[in-house]
Amino acid sequence: MTVDKPSASWDPDSAHPTSDRVAIDVHLGPGELDRALRRDVETGLTSEPKELPPKWFYDEQGSALFDKITRLDEYYQTEAERSILANRASELIATVQADTIVELGSGTSDKTRTVLDEATSTGSLKRFIPFDVSEEFLRHAAHMLAARYPRLEVHGVVGDFDRHLTEIPTGGRRLIMLLGGTIGNYPPAERRRFLSEIVSGMRPGDHFLVGVDVVKDPARIELAYNDPAGVTEAFNKNVLGVINRNLRANFDLDAFSHIAYFDPEHEWIEILLQSDQDQRVTVAELDLEVEFYTGERMRTEISAKFRQDRFENELIDVGLKPVAWWADANGDFAVSLAARPLAEPAT
Ligand code: SAH
Ligand code: AVI
Repeated sequence: MTVDKPSASWDPDSAHPTSDRVAIDVHLGPGELDRALRRDVETGLTSEPKELPPKWFYDEQGSALFDKITRLDEYYQTEAERSILANRASELIATVQADTIVELGSGTSDKTRTVLDEATSTGSLKRFIPFDVSEEFLRHAAHMLAARYPRLEVHGVVGDFDRHLTEIPTGGRRLIMLLGGTIGNYPPAERRRFLSEIVSGMRPGDHFLVGVDVVKDPARIELAYNDPAGVTEAFNKNVLGVINRNLRANFDLDAFSHIAYFDPEHEWIEILLQSDQDQRVTVAELDLEVEFYTGERMRTEISAKFRQDRFENELIDVGLKPVAWWADANGDFAVSLAARPLAEPAT
């Protein structure tokens, strides 16, 4: 663990210096990040069909593009979730009685402030643990939050959901949050594994709060992933930019099209990159040449949409007890609260 040194711009003239209250553990340093990217790109580009995992969207450029997506009118999810958190914060904090909040996939932790405002005003919260693969965004958010909440300890963890959940500091009565619909980026089998891992790190009495996008008119969902300004397109193509920049590849981003459509059978959005021509791409660091044919589609993400009964059954399946289901006024988005039940008394 390292005590973190903020740049001056993170803590301008603060009456509450943050550096003694912020620690950041990095489990994905440059070497490790590079090895994981190599593995995923090699596997993904040599599979049939080709596929790239969505975690590679989020370098600094990709995280900034996602932040821009959250401000688009078409992307209703962020404001819907923010309104739920604002309306339910006091009920939530009274229910969970947590002294530690862990936020998985924290990004800018922007909406999280609604919950932290409430939790710090009641005096119950001692520690906030943001966890994200995107180091720069996490560092920035950690210092902003430490400056805003002068008695809060902020212990960030830079890691990958798939490998580093066990590195999250333990102790205290915890609320684990996974906001923004991020759970929907996991296909069902991986989702179950991910949820089980989260639950195995929880103690009886801990709570889990998860934001999910809800099944609705497909046209509205599709518009959220095909915004006319092209921000989602740039976000999707950024995964090719990440490979170009880090593995000396020569993807021509203009030779691929962004595709996003609702798959009614699975009730998820498929997000793909489609090759506009026959082309050969070189990934120099991997000594790899890859052919794409005209019209070939490579999946970069799915974004599942949920219904209350099915989602709560998924929570029950991994050993959680649903406590509340809070939707926004339009019923577009929901935040689900569940608890790890106290052990049954022995009979
Ligand atoms: N919670 C924020 C951000 C959601 S975007 C919100 O509600 O707006 C998804 C976030 O998860 C990003 O910050 C991204 O960097 C992070 N993320 C995606 N895949 C990850 C992985 N495998 N491990 C850790 N973080 C991941
Ligand atoms: C982070 N995640 C929930 C976003 C989503 O809506 O699935 C990522 C995203 N992809 C395209 N637009 C936004």
